[in-house]
Amino acid sequence: MSPGKAAACRALVGLQWGDEGKGKLIDWLAAEARHVARFQGGHNAGHTVVVEGRKFVLHLLPSGVINEGCRCYIGQGVALDLAALLEEIEILRQGGVDCAGRLAVSPHCALVMPHHVQLDAAREQQAAGKIGTTLRGIGPAQEDRAARCAVRLGDVLAGAARIEASVAKANCQLAGLHGAPAADAAAIAAEIAKLAEQVKPYVADVPAELEAAAGRGEAILLEGAQGALLDIEQGSYPFVTSSSCLASGSAPGLGIDLRPEVIGVAKAYVTRVGMGALPTRIEGKEAEFLVEQGAEFGATTSRRRDVGWLDIPALRHALRLNACGSIALTKLDVLGLLERVKVCVAYRLDGERLASWPPSDRMLQRCEPEWIELPGWGALPDKVEAYDELPAACRDYVAKIEELAGARVEIVSCGPERGATLWRT
Ligand code: IMP
Repeated sequence: MSPGKAAACRALVGLQWGDEGKGKLIDWLAAEARHVARFQGGHNAGHTVVVEGRKFVLHLLPSGVINEGCRCYIGQGVALDLAALLEEIEILRQGGVDCAGRLAVSPHCALVMPHHVQLDAAREQQAAGKIGTTLRGIGPAQEDRAARCAVRLGDVLAGAARIEASVAKANCQLAGLHGAPAADAAAIAAEIAKLAEQVKPYVADVPAELEAAAGRGEAILLEGAQGALLDIEQGSYPFVTSSSCLASGSAPGLGIDLRPEVIGVAKAYVTRVGMGALPTRIEGKEAEFLVEQGAEFGATTSRRRDVGWLDIPALRHALRLNACGSIALTKLDVLGLLERVKVCVAYRLDGERLASWPPSDRMLQRCEPEWIELPGWGALPDKVEAYDELPAACRDYVAKIEELAGARVEIVSCGPERGATLWRT
């Protein structure tokens, strides 16, 4: 890797609807970081890292965990499922990666509990209001946080958690709105207390540790999950996740504003899972080809992702939301195999040209893309060590994206392996 100047604090965030390849890039950048922190999302995320042919899928643990020299943090903005966390730690341990002594979990994390998962499932079974969630209970857990009745990890450890109240609230909805069986408060309380004791050794003062690390000038990486277009406030509402997926979400999500240098990750095409508009959707053989070649199946739910051509209005929106001028562009190896590739440069809505991203999913559904077409560039060489080694048509594609998006592509990723990544400079 040729990193140029390693920034003291970087944030890597998704610029699309998630699944941009953040896991791979975090793992790669973590080689030069001492600390990697997750600040939002939960085990709805699925970050895939391939190291020497071995595939790791991470949901809650920061993707930097594969680098044994990294201390990893789960900040208070993460919706924390204790059972999922312990399972992930154990799977990694069996795979030869030990988290002991290098994982710090905030006691202020709101817990995702079984009744949240039940509620998520019950809601998703009804056509009206269906979001196409990952069914991990993230939305209902975040609702409890906003309603100020969340159960936080520290409360459980202090014996002061009001789990029964949280379950009673969920049961009202489960029985009253969905005709679903009630959750068992006593069983959940007992289970959560047991799991919290197992997580206790990892509990730490996350903002204090990060402040000290920043003070020592040690490199810190902040790892976003999902992507800007799934952001609770600025995404394609209501078909979004329930946390802030932007770099600015790292301050409330960690309890410290580290003012990171932001790198946004974008795939050379777009994908989306769940409900909601995808104006640049690709159908037919080309779609099948990209899904197959790009392994476009959810790392958490195995759902097939919908695919679309790169969407510049959406990309510009995501860059602006993140105050980001640097792009890491992934899956160039996949897109280039097509003979011709399209890029959406603007939308048309009700006869008008719209160069910006519309503020609601309903408007987005009615947008007609305006396209440009470029040639594909065929298979990339097995090993690319410098940007100039990429085919000219591939570099032309990158240059066009830079021009249209108004940002510089700093990093390109040409394959799933850690090594298939390079800095432009
Ligand atoms: P939830 O986060 O499970 O509530 O799901 C809300 C929306 O976000 C759905 O459209 C999900 O498919 C989407 N989503 C959540 N996490 C991810 C992710 O890691 N990658 C891609 N989509 C996601």
